[in-house]
Amino acid sequence: MKPAATIEPLSSAHDRQAFDSGVEALDRYLRERASQDIRRRLSNCFVALDKGGRIAGYYTLAATGLPLTALADDEAKRLPRYPLLPAGLIGRLAVHRAFRGLGLGAALVVDAIERSIAADPAIFALVVDAKDEAAAAFYRHLGFQPFVSKPMSLFLPLAEAARRLA
Ligand SMILES: CC(C)(COP(=O)(O)OP(=O)(O)OC[C@H]1O[C@@H](n2cnc3c(N)ncnc32)[C@H](O)[C@@H]1OP(=O)(O)O)[C@@H](O)C(=O)NCCC(=O)NCCS
Repeated sequence: MKPAATIEPLSSAHDRQAFDSGVEALDRYLRERASQDIRRRLSNCFVALDKGGRIAGYYTLAATGLPLTALADDEAKRLPRYPLLPAGLIGRLAVHRAFRGLGLGAALVVDAIERSIAADPAIFALVVDAKDEAAAAFYRHLGFQPFVSKPMSLFLPLAEAARRLA
């Protein structure tokens, strides 16, 4: 599942100008806003590098809450009645067009899972807001489940993800 790629926090050492995911809004975010969001502690950003050190993909990770009402009744009833469960948000995820279909998108999600499991604050699940049906299908393929009444928002419980990665 995980190709040989270095995944590390975005820094000023990385050249973002040539990144081309085919989705201008995602490319522009990396070029123009990601560093500012990191400085303001709104979101962290992690980049996958190719052998030449160029950015092949990235994702952002921030804290969020998963409403208990997003879970199916049989899942929710196994949990305490906390209205919001602690969660990590993959706000953006993009792979350079030249690196599509090589497992890099999945590797970035696995990296987000591993960082979230290793974080000191407990994180119950990862949450994503898919920007279109193709993105939602990608996340479902990786095991994310749609919110009960909001199918473009999906979540992946980390206990389950950890079992699958082990
Ligand atoms: C979505 C995206 C990140 C996928 O990245 P990728 O590196 O091409 O995907 P991977 O090669 O890691 O695919 C991993 C698995 O998901 C599957 N998959 C990929 N795209 C899929 C899709 N749209 N629907 C269903 N499955 C998909 C692959 O077949 C692969 O399956 P396998 O492990 O069983 O072989 C990439 O296409 C992209 O950057 N798209 C534009 C931006 C975007 O839509 N971002 C989503 C954030 S909302």
